Amino acid sequence: MQTVTQLDPLRRAVAMLKADGPVALVPTMGALHEGHLALVREAAKRAAHVVVSIFVNPRQFGANEDLGKYPRQLAADTALLAAEGVHLLWAPDAAAMYPPGYATNVVVGGVSQGLCGAARPGHFDGVATVVCKLFNQVAPDLALFGEKDWQQLAVIRRMARDLDLLLPHADAIIGVPTVREADGLALSSRNAFLTPEQRQSAAALPRSMAGAIAAIRSGAPIRAAMAALTAALEDAGFASVDFAEVRDAGDLTPLAELGPDPARLLVAARIGGTRLIDNMPLQAG
Ligand code: PAF
Repeated sequence: MQTVTQLDPLRRAVAMLKADGPVALVPTMGALHEGHLALVREAAKRAAHVVVSIFVNPRQFGANEDLGKYPRQLAADTALLAAEGVHLLWAPDAAAMYPPGYATNVVVGGVSQGLCGAARPGHFDGVATVVCKLFNQVAPDLALFGEKDWQQLAVIRRMARDLDLLLPHADAIIGVPTVREADGLALSSRNAFLTPEQRQSAAALPRSMAGAIAAIRSGAPIRAAMAALTAALEDAGFASVDFAEVRDAGDLTPLAELGPDPARLLVAARIGGTRLIDNMPLQAG
């Protein structure tokens, strides 16, 4: 596996790969876990070559979010990716990504508002900006993202459609299902911040979400099911629930009742100092 940290060698390396077949990009911020490796494995099934980026993007961290504490383990990540047969690792530093004088921001309206966008102002601008740059830098044939960050996936899909990035959009931006621990907790780099006691309580998140979905499917009103879900999380030891909402799975319109289109339950809740997010489909299959 080749590792490049500057744009010119990246372009040369990608050109060689593309001459030989389609290239899939898996953008990450490192601290890789099985969820990321699921993206890499799916990418390898869909393209001849896999490029992974590792860049802890300062522009998607708020002033009160500790960018400095984000786990960085490039050597361990490199070994994991090499073992997966990844062809190229793009690992720029902040100066390579945002050279002096950098002044451009990509803002995606609509789907970036509310949910995580409310609690983390500017977060999705930072995500859209860096993903737009990664798409331009690597020019992949397809790119893969985890469904765990459902709103992020919706923002990236919207941006790709609006800015004509990666075509055809429907086939080029792939969402990969969330990888979960045995007790249902979604894998996340943030799980490392949980104490053993918090980690045990955190399993209430997927469990209560599944309970709320079952209640709605049996006819409970969405509003009542969300209130019960919030109470269950607080009883289980969560300090607060940022949101628990049912939204249209595609454009994230809030839903008061289920309709014919796919719907998604999205939740963010805090346990100790850690904010966990998760989402699940309302409809089976
Ligand atoms: O999901 C992530 O790890 C990041 O938000 C992404 C997409 C790599 C952009 O920095």
